[in-house]
Amino acid sequence: AIDPNFEENREVVDDHDGHAVWGPVDEPEQLGIHGTHVAVDFDICLADGACLEDCPVDVFEWVDSPGHPESEIKADPAREAQCIDCMLCVDVCPVDAIDVDAS
Ligand code: SF4
Ligand code: F3S
Ligand code: ZN
Repeated sequence: AIDPNFEENREVVDDHDGHAVWGPVDEPEQLGIHGTHVAVDFDICLADGACLEDCPVDVFEWVDSPGHPESEIKADPAREAQCIDCMLCVDVCPVDAIDVDAS
């Protein structure tokens, strides 16, 4: 599962379309965590898609991740600022790849 304390345990190593990327990153095998308020551990995401289907405000969109061992697409929190903290994505992800900081 995603580390809920990733902000203490990781460092921002990049920016992707306006959101942070928390390392370590070593492409294509290791992609880190995308986003901060809505954080998706790309190294855990296996492209189940429930988060994209269920998010009421369309925070997520697919991005390509060719060569990653878990999946060749990932759910990117492209519009994390729109999140309304419903926690649905956290509940439906089968591999607990998502952390939403609702505090
Ligand atoms: Fe979307 Fe709710 Fe997840 Fe926020 S907590 S990203 S609104 S499903
Ligand atoms: Fe990935 Fe979980 Fe969404 S596996 S696509 S973050 S439901
Ligand atoms: Zn991203």
